[in-house]
This record gives sequence, structure tokens and C-alpha cells, in this order.
Amino acid sequence: MYNNPELNKYFGGNSESMPPIYCKFYKFCKYLAFIFLMYNYLGKNFKRTTIMELDILRAVDPAVAELVEKELKRQQTTIELIASENFTSPAVMAACGTVLTNKYAEGKPYKRFYNGCENIDQIETLAQERAKKLFGVDHANVQPHSGAQANMAVFMYALKPGDKVLGMDLSNGGHLSHGSPVNFSGLYFDVVSYGVDENGCIDYDNVAEIARREKPKMIICGASNYSKIIDFKRFKEIADEVGAFLMADIAHIAGLVAAGLHPSPAPYADFVTTTTHKSLRGPRGGIIMCKEKHALGIDKAVFPGIQGGPLEHIIAGKAVALLEASKPEFKQYAEQIVKNAKTLSEELINEAMEIVGGVTENHLMTLDLRKYNKTGKDIANVLEKVGITANKNTVPNDPQSPFVTSGVRLGTPAVTTRGFKEDDMRETAKIIASAVIYSDSEIALENLKARSLKLCEKYPLY
Ligand SMILES: Cc1ncc(COP(=O)(O)O)c(C=O)c1O
Repeated sequence: MYNNPELNKYFGGNSESMPPIYCKFYKFCKYLAFIFLMYNYLGKNFKRTTIMELDILRAVDPAVAELVEKELKRQQTTIELIASENFTSPAVMAACGTVLTNKYAEGKPYKRFYNGCENIDQIETLAQERAKKLFGVDHANVQPHSGAQANMAVFMYALKPGDKVLGMDLSNGGHLSHGSPVNFSGLYFDVVSYGVDENGCIDYDNVAEIARREKPKMIICGASNYSKIIDFKRFKEIADEVGAFLMADIAHIAGLVAAGLHPSPAPYADFVTTTTHKSLRGPRGGIIMCKEKHALGIDKAVFPGIQGGPLEHIIAGKAVALLEASKPEFKQYAEQIVKNAKTLSEELINEAMEIVGGVTENHLMTLDLRKYNKTGKDIANVLEKVGITANKNTVPNDPQSPFVTSGVRLGTPAVTTRGFKEDDMRETAKIIASAVIYSDSEIALENLKARSLKLCEKYPLY
């Protein structure tokens, strides 16, 4: 979707596709531009560019520039199926690479602890207003550095250490920050958890039963690996019945919620947290949204509670992504994510693969490899060999450790940004199924890798 010649200017153009005369001229211009930049850099009139151009980086730090280039190549030549990843737009990247990185702005817009924030204040306010409009919420704090930070701030505001929390179990699809014993949430709070049934679905009656028995102070819904629609209304009824706060973590489905393709928790949840870099397709970061009555407390929990100075360059990137997500093209994009995921899961099932919960209702799914006697760790590595990036993931009641697992999670936000459609997902499913079955045959894997590369070449990235 970004295969637009404009982008080449950010990542060094592809002169191979030009006629030779233009190619020489282009290279000459590039050379001139490089000399000009070096002159400016070494001379007095050097102006910092607002976009981190690779040429500039190369001139200062060739080691980092080379690795960035290699990473670009890796992204261009592999099929990205990590469900929590995406490719941001050049505009988002441009915003993140600006002079805003230079500014300290502890506090909130128009209430800072530092001077010189008049522009920063407007940028952060824009991001807040766009988040409020897009998700239909009273208040948005756009400062959390990440999704885990957003969740931590909600815990800090709503709970005291030792309070009871009911969240989804990590091995059933929850997130570390929803109460895992190795995370702050599990270390400092009393955690009880719910899981999924044999069909991979949340059993809401069971959640209600646990809530009545345990009387948690906060219930968390939202997941890292759940392929069904979440019934936020039902969660709210359960929370109300036991007098608990409801926190909805929409990190994974934020793009679908923004596009109206998944029900929104906004009318129900006391707190809605999200990351901005998954299906929402923004920069890496988090947002907390809440009802007005919690606004002050949430803001204080973020700063000075758990963070110092906000990353205003990233907040600018969030503002851009939120604007992009409000456009009709984004709705089309989100629709295609869901179509692609549905097609991928259907085709994998046709290929005799097992999917937790069957055909997905959102953007992701988990391959259950127990039937093939293979582990998630092994198959994620095999997929990498054939040019597909995915992550190992536990399946419900997984006999393997979280480091080995019996599953591989697959998601479609990134490939959809790239332009993949249903036919491409069918081909991808065939490649995955063959890779699982022929995982020991180097020749078969080579052949599959060529097929992956062909798909990537069909949709050039950046
Ligand atoms: C549901 C959920 N919440 C929170 C997070 C944490 O986000 P981050 O990695 O930005 O801290 C994730 C990340 O995968 C997630 O899936």
C-alpha cells in the first residue's frame, strides 16, 4: 500500500527500474546531494533535517546505517505474519524523526515543568483530540511509552499493592501485564485468572463465577492472542455485579475498533488501554483512554507516577497515525485485514492444519502443532527459513513451556499494509502448511522460500 515512488526518497531509490540514462543522471544527482549534505554537515550552515535520512546516518555512523539497511531488506523480503507488527507510513516515521526528540516536556499540555513547550503543547493536544474522536472517549493520555506502561499506569491509579485483579491467563492468550507472576502486575497484585474453553472461546459464565467468588477490584479484558470477538458489554455486567473496575486492553484490535469492525469497549470500560503500533499502524507506544472522572488520576499515574518526560516525537507520530486511522482508506485497510485473516485460517484448515478456535473473527489465529508432534519454537524457526516471520505461542493447556510452546501465532495487519489480498493469503497458507509437513527437507524449504519471495516481490515495501 505504500509502494509509492515518494517513499524511495526516504530509503534510497531503486534506480534499477529506470532507463540507463536516467539512472546515471539519478546517481549523479544523488552524489551531488551527498556532497551538498556533507558540505552542510561539516560547514557552518548545517540544518538538522527533520527526517532521519539514511544518507545522513551513513555519513556519521556507517555501522548503524548498514544494519538499518539490512533490516529494511529483511522487511522487504519476508512475509511478516507477527500479529502485533505492522509497517507505519512514511509520514509517521517522518514525525518520529523530528526535532521534537530534543524537547523535555514533563507534565501535561499547557501545564509543564519546562519552558518552551508552546509547539509541543499543540502537538500533544492534537494527538489527544484525535484519539478521543476516533475512539469516542472522554479523555486520552497519549504519553505512555508502551502498552505495558499504559497498563501499569492504570494499575497505579485504580489499585493498591495487594489488591485483587482478574485477568486472562497468559498461556490462554492474555498479556504479561495482565497479571503474569514474572511481571509487576503479578508481583505486586493478587491475581486470579480466567482462560478459554476447548473451542478457544472465553466462557463468560465462568468469568462471572470467578468474579463472584474472588471479588476482584479490577477485571481486565482484551488479549494478545484471542481470535474471537470480545463481548465488552458482558464484561461490564460482570464487573458491575461485583463492584470492580473494568479495564479493556485493545492493543491488538485497536485498528479494527477504530474502523468499526470490532465492538468498542468505550461505552463500558472505565479504562481503555492500547498500543499504537499494532493494527493501528502507528509508532511504538501506548495510549490510555478513560471517562472524565478518572482523567486527573490517570494523568498523575502516568506522570509523575511511572514515567518521566514524554517522548514528544513519538506522540507526534501517534497524532499522524490517529489522523490516518480516521480516513476512509483505513477502514478499507482494516476490512482487508479481517478478510485476509479469515482466508488464511480457512485455507490452513483446508490444508489439514489445526487452528485454535477454528476460523478467526479478527486479525489473528494460532496454529496448534500438537497433532504434528512439532513445537512452536521449531516451526517458527522453519517458517523463518522459508521467508515467513511469525512467533511461537502457547496454545490452551499447552504441555510445552512458554519458551518452547505448541503453537505459532499468525496475524495479517502487516501483510495487508503491504497489499496482500485473499489469493496471496491462500498461497501463504499453502507455504505454511508445506513448511510444517516438510520441515525436515532442505530442498522443499528452499522451494517454499522462493515462493515467499515471489509474493514479497509482488508487493514491494517502501
Ligand atoms: C494485549 C497487549 N497489551 C499490552 C501489550 C504490551 O505492549 P508493549 O509491548 O508496547 O509494552 C501487548 C504487546 O504485545 C499486548 O498484546
